[in-house]
Amino acid sequence: MIAAGSTIGIIGGGQLGRMLAMAAARLGYRTVILEPQADCPAAQVATEQIVAAYDNPEALERLAEISDVITYEFENVPVDAAETLNETKPVFPPPEALKVSQDRVTEKRFLNNAGIQTAQWRIVENEGDLEAALLAFEGKGILKTRRFGYDGKGQVKFSGAKGENAKAGFAAVGSVPSILEGLVDFTREISVIAARDEAGDIRIYDIAENVHKDGILATSTVPVSVSSTIAGLAADSARKLLEALNYVGVLGMEFFVLANGTLLANEFAPRVHNSGHWTEAACAVSQFEQHIRAVAGLPLGDARRHSDCVMENLIGDDVEKLPAILAESGAVVHLYGKAEARPGRKMGHVTRITKRL
Ligand SMILES: Nc1ncnc2c1ncn2[C@@H]1O[C@H](COP(=O)(O)OP(=O)(O)O)[C@@H](O)[C@H]1O
Ligand SMILES: [Mg+2]
Repeated sequence: MIAAGSTIGIIGGGQLGRMLAMAAARLGYRTVILEPQADCPAAQVATEQIVAAYDNPEALERLAEISDVITYEFENVPVDAAETLNETKPVFPPPEALKVSQDRVTEKRFLNNAGIQTAQWRIVENEGDLEAALLAFEGKGILKTRRFGYDGKGQVKFSGAKGENAKAGFAAVGSVPSILEGLVDFTREISVIAARDEAGDIRIYDIAENVHKDGILATSTVPVSVSSTIAGLAADSARKLLEALNYVGVLGMEFFVLANGTLLANEFAPRVHNSGHWTEAACAVSQFEQHIRAVAGLPLGDARRHSDCVMENLIGDDVEKLPAILAESGAVVHLYGKAEARPGRKMGHVTRITKRL
């Protein structure tokens, strides 16, 4: 366990880093943010920022020097950088988790090998692969770039309609290594936020139902009316994944629920997750504090929910609704310190407590 007053290094300076830094401060820790963009959301509330690229050797050396433990807030941290840092100071979650989750093929393979069911999938290296895969999937599927996709970017949907073709589809994702996933006819999308510490203790938050708009998470609602079988399956999958990765920290895992009661894992993020922001308002220990506890070697906290709630992302000019939101009772507002409200940009979120338990 690192002592109060120690420094936690955080790679990445966005809103997730900001909320981690705030949780770290509440537990008596200092934070240093590695992020090329000066005055980023995380640095505004951290002790220090190293303004440099994530793979800058001098910056990494400095980060290792001043940090007692290092973590990250986004999944595209260069794996080499994380592995290099890990030689000097502990990096949690393990760099292996980055490696697996950065590529949708290694991610799906890892999930399947851990006994977690996903949609069917095929590797797509070229138009020919895509044609063959579409044929196998009766023309239906979602083509996704293997790397760097987020908020629905780098994806093309094939619904089996006339006029869709492999050539245009592959070009539309930039003709880069991709994956074709079977098109899942889901009734709901849910996610689980789960934590594991070095000793193997695991805490799992209640599942949330997520609604996306234009590929971006719009709302997360807790509780979700799914069967206890589905809820249990989701928690079991998270537990299997945490153990298979020898994970330390918080991760977010997304699932599809099918009408026939099947649960398919979609993807996971080796970090705190947007669909877990509600925990800050409806649990004694938020996902952010839980992550800091895990990486700092503190005992994990209670993940039970004390309220029902709905988290709504404030995207782009949604922030203009702020005066009205601030006037609501039971609304917990969180803004990220971003100056400009561009379309599609996550500016903040609000969690509305709908019922106290
Ligand atoms: N195989 C699929 N079948 C049906 N819908 C999908 C499938 N994969 C993704 N989607 C939809 O697209 C959204 C974004 O895809 P996802 O794989 O989560 O990528 P991102 O990394 O952009 O979050 C999902 O939340 C879901 O609504
Ligand atoms: Mg997703």
